[in-house]
This record gives sequence, structure tokens and C-alpha cells, in this order.
Amino acid sequence: MSQTPLAVAILAAGKGTRMKSRLPKVLHPLGGRSLVEWVLHSLRDLDVERRFVIVGYGAEEVKASLAGDNSVEFVLQAEQLGTGHAVQQLMPHLKGFQGDLLVLNGDVPLLRPETLKNLVEAHRGNGATLLTAQIPNPAGYGRVFCGDGNKLTQIVEDRDCTPAQKTNCRVNAGVYCFNWPALEKDALPKLSTDNDQAEYYLTQAVDYLDPVIAVDVEDFEETLGINDRRQLAGAYGILQTRFKDELMAQGVMLIDPDSCTIDDTVTIGAETVIEPQTHLRGNTTIGSGCRIGPGTLVENSSVGDGVTAMYSVILDSKVGSNNRVGPYTHLRGEVEVGDGCRLGNFVEIKKSTIGPGTNVSHLSYIGNAELGKKVNVGAGTITANYDGVNKHKTVIGDRVKTGSNSVLVAPITIGSDVTIAAGSTLTKDVPDQSLAMARSKQVVKEGWKPKTAPKAEGDA
Ligand code: UD1
Ligand code: CA
Repeated sequence: MSQTPLAVAILAAGKGTRMKSRLPKVLHPLGGRSLVEWVLHSLRDLDVERRFVIVGYGAEEVKASLAGDNSVEFVLQAEQLGTGHAVQQLMPHLKGFQGDLLVLNGDVPLLRPETLKNLVEAHRGNGATLLTAQIPNPAGYGRVFCGDGNKLTQIVEDRDCTPAQKTNCRVNAGVYCFNWPALEKDALPKLSTDNDQAEYYLTQAVDYLDPVIAVDVEDFEETLGINDRRQLAGAYGILQTRFKDELMAQGVMLIDPDSCTIDDTVTIGAETVIEPQTHLRGNTTIGSGCRIGPGTLVENSSVGDGVTAMYSVILDSKVGSNNRVGPYTHLRGEVEVGDGCRLGNFVEIKKSTIGPGTNVSHLSYIGNAELGKKVNVGAGTITANYDGVNKHKTVIGDRVKTGSNSVLVAPITIGSDVTIAAGSTLTKDVPDQSLAMARSKQVVKEGWKPKTAPKAEGDA
């Protein structure tokens, strides 16, 4: 049996006045994705022939944010005259299309892929099929009224409801599957602005289609629409709970899930323990058998297996396996760390590579540097990489030991098997297998006494 072709339209042209923000509503971030990216992501189990995003307010910004997704076609709704008007903009693009059109509001980000699949499957042969939910606090949503067999009779927007209608807790989720030829011919041309907002409501289309069937979603939280920041924060909480439950089912231990935030773009290996107050964001991968936290932030970074990272910040970096990071390590701007390293206490590393088995254990700044393997960076070693205008490179060979408090003034290359005396300020390259000292000699005057006489007793 051949499947009915499916097109999808995401309504994303509104400003989102209630967000009190310059940013178009659908671009507000929710975990690792924007609202509209979440909606696109929820389509992942459907076989979709064409996907449209209707843009209007901030159109260029919305388009730019989705520029990486070639499957999306943008349709401009130059003036935002309502959700029905938004769908009318598709008419020139879907002329003669003999399939179904799934319409999704761009501000409904929590839908599960299987919910959409069920809706599309339930739709067969209907004029329209709507996702509905029974929600405890329906204020703000369109109310759905049905007769026998979930046959829909009417949708009334919250602001158009009588007090009696407002008590109906069955709401329109903003997710609709339409028979496109019927919608195009019998409904879209007939929409009017006869309502409190004087807009063309898509919900009015159901008056001209037959039959229209309402399908209740099992978990009403999926249908939450984001109109203000409080709802955005609420949606984040729901996503977090969902994702953390998934992680724990996969064998990741979250000691205190509520104190952590983990984007759903993050992957974590089994047997890893996430300690309290830890935040994992963006494109981040954590291996297995790690202990991350307490108090650690990892963003757009990869961390290998068996790593501990306490009270540390790891940004845009790659950390190998079996490393000990922290307490209080800051890695940023493309740091690459090999395996078996110790990065420690009060250490900042920026845009550098650290070879395997190398230790930078205490109180250091390493920037624009390349460290070989098994280097021991002494406490307080600094790479002085900035001359006030440009950043310069420091290269340190294998098995080098830098003495405590050494300053390596870049550009500088230290060979392999070099020892640097404590307190040295080096400005010139050092060859392999040598000792470098650059500090003033210690002077000791034996038998020396201070010239001033000791203070008499009782003096302050
Ligand atoms: C809409 C529904 C309501 C439903 C609720 C579910 C209508 C008339 N009402 O109300 O029944 O319960 O969603 O969340 O559809 N948009 C455009 N162009 C426009 C207007 C809006 O693209 O001209 C987009 C918005 O960017 C948004 C979506 O459509 O992503 C919904 O618009 P919004 O104003 O939030 O509708 P609601 O009042 O929430
Ligand atoms: Ca809305």
C-alpha cells in the first residue's frame, strides 16, 4: 500500500510579544536547541516529503539559524495576520499536492516523535485530525469541543470563550494533520477575522472540514506551548527530567539530578558518576567510568574514559582518558589533553596541546603552547604569551621539568629532556638535554648582622 505523501509546516512567523524580547520567540534557547529546532527534531520518525518553516518577524535571523538544514524550505509571511493566514502562505507552494499537511506551532517544543507518528496514522481519510490534551490549567489555550467519537465540533480561543466554555480543560495543542486538497479548496479561502484579535485563525478551518477528529495525547506536558519565559523555564525542567531519566536508564549515575543541568545533546558513558552542581552543555561527550563534579561545567567538549573533573570548567576542549582535572582547572579555547595527565589546582590552560602523561598540577597559566609527553610543569609556571599586541607560541619538548615559578616568554622553544631552574625567566630557546637557569645568583654574607641596634624592651 502506498503511503499518503506528507508535508510539514512549522508556524514560526510570530514575534512572541509575551516573551518581552527582541529575539524572535522560536529562537529562544531551550537546552541545546532553539524552540524551532526542537519542533524540527520532533519530526525525526516521520517520512516527510517537504518541510516548510513559515517566517515573518525576524525572518532573516530565523533563516540564518536554520541555514545548516538543507531540508527546510522557508516561506515568508510578511505580515502576521494570524495562524490561518500563515498557512494560507503555503498555497502557491503546495498547488496540486495530493497529500496530508502536518501543521505544528513553532512554540510547542516538547512533542515526542511517536506522538506525531500516531497522529499522522490516526488521520487516514479524515478532513483533519487534531492533537488535543486534557490539561489542569488550560488558560491561554484554544478549547476543543467534541461530540460522539471524538468528532470535533468547535475550537474556541481562550479570549473568545464564555465563562462556561473556559471550564473545558480539553485544549488544542497546535498540532494538526490536514487533508491538503480539502484544506486548500474548502477551508483556507473561507477564513475570516471575526474574532477578538481580528486575525485569521487556523482553528477556524475545522468548521469547513469533515470529519475532524480529536486525538488526546497521553502526556499533556508534551503539548505545552511557550508564550512567556515562565513557560520556557517550565519546559526546560520537563526536558531535563525526561533526559536525566534516560541517562540513568543507560547506567549513568546522577547523585543529585535536580542540582545538575544536562543538555540532551550530551552523551555520557555507563558507570560515569555525575556529582552535584554539574552542568553539561552543547556538543559534549563524556566517556565511561568518569567522575564529573561536584561543581563542574563542561561545554562543547569531549572527555575520555576514567576522568575525574572536580570544580572545574572545560570549554571547547578535548580531554583524553584517565586524566585528573581540578580542583579548579579552567580549560578553554581548543585545549587538547592526551591521556594520563594531571591538571590541577588553580590552573588555566588556553588553546594548547598537552601531551600524554604530562602534569600541570599547581597554579599555572599555559596559553598558545604545545607541551610534549611526560612534562612536569612546576608550580606557578607561566607561559607569557602576550606582548600587548600579539599572542606568541611556546613549545616544550618531552620530559621537560620546569622549576617552580618559571616564566617562559614566548615565542620560545624548549627542547626535550630540559630542566629549568626554579624562578627562571627564559626569553631564549633552550636545546635538548640541558639545564637552563635565568635568575640572579643567591648572595649569602656569613656572620652578617643588621646595623640597627635591637629595640629596647617595652618599645612599641
Ligand atoms: C494557538 C492556537 C490555540 C492553541 C495554541 C497551542 C490559534 C488561533 N490558536 O494559540 O488554539 O491552543 O496555539 O499552543 O491558532 N504564528 C505565525 N504567524 C502568525 C501568528 C502566529 O507564524 O501570524 C506562529 C507563532 O510564531 C507561533 C504559532 O504560530 O509559533 C502560534 O501562535 P501564538 O500566537 O503563540 O498562538 P496561541 O495564542 O498560543
Ligand atoms: Ca503559543
